[in-house]
Amino acid sequence: MIKRPRHTRINATIRRMVRETSLSVDDLIYPLFVKHGRGEREPIASMVGHYRVSTDELMKEAQEVWSLGIPAIILFGIPQRKDEMGREAYSRDGVVQRAVAAVKERIPELLVITDVCLCQYTDHGHCGIIKDNQVDNDATLEVLSHVALSHAEVGADFVAPSDMMDGRVRAIRETLESEGFKDTGILAYAVKYASSFYGPFREAADSAPKFGDRKSYQMDAANAREAIKEALLDVEEGADIIMVKPALAYLDIIHRVRSRIELPVAAYSVSGEYAMVKAADQKGWIEGEKVMMEILLSIKRAGADLILTYFAKEGARILRDHEDL
Ligand code: PBG
Repeated sequence: MIKRPRHTRINATIRRMVRETSLSVDDLIYPLFVKHGRGEREPIASMVGHYRVSTDELMKEAQEVWSLGIPAIILFGIPQRKDEMGREAYSRDGVVQRAVAAVKERIPELLVITDVCLCQYTDHGHCGIIKDNQVDNDATLEVLSHVALSHAEVGADFVAPSDMMDGRVRAIRETLESEGFKDTGILAYAVKYASSFYGPFREAADSAPKFGDRKSYQMDAANAREAIKEALLDVEEGADIIMVKPALAYLDIIHRVRSRIELPVAAYSVSGEYAMVKAADQKGWIEGEKVMMEILLSIKRAGADLILTYFAKEGARILRDHEDL
């Protein structure tokens, strides 16, 4: 006799009942770029709807995010000055440190995650300290620990090292413990590929390397088993949440990591993924909102618990209004 899988697709009600994966506002984390000054809201050309904002404008964003029900933001800083050590990254009155303090004072329940890296802050644009034209892993660990500590001191809930140096999660965990910040969590960019999908972000954050590339520390796109090696190391070193980045071209990696790791898994749907959808939508070539929801759902279906996405506000609005996209 004929088998009829269409029975469970025949109308919206049954589709709703048998749906295997669901997207929730609780899954979303919104990235924001913060700069010095007052009243600043500078559009990012390649990321329509995103801005470099000063702290006062950031507060408006944070209020909006929180009122949409989005539980968390991740902050990226645009410093005033860059130098070879990335000093503003761990300065007490650095751009991120001030922003974190402001958000935690006004909206204490909004979870604030900080990106811990040096590339925006160094004059050479690499994610670590340069010695003999190479990124020096162990010298970088010390600086990254200072950065993480400076974020914890102003109230960051989670620090998120994105540099891909070996041993950074352990170094940061040890520093946080010994300085009394036992409650600060670590969201590790554990599985981060050397990806061309970061292009718009590097424009937004002015963080492209001035020489060479990031291939000696970020992962080779061809490697999947290595993702498990990186994820297991970060678990052992004390990470609380494991991140895979980018998301869309790495759904298989999200799936593999999910099946091997017991911790929550986050996926970063990066700037290039956002920009492609926006650009095609503006040209009228795709229905941007529907494509957005399909992509977010695919990341969830692959196994991510959490999604860092520039679409978080738009996605949250659609989920709130129960539009069946
Ligand atoms: C910093 C960092 C990058 C991104 C997040 N943190 C850029 C990079 O590694 O070059 C990319 C995020 C995005 O593209 O949205 N190291």
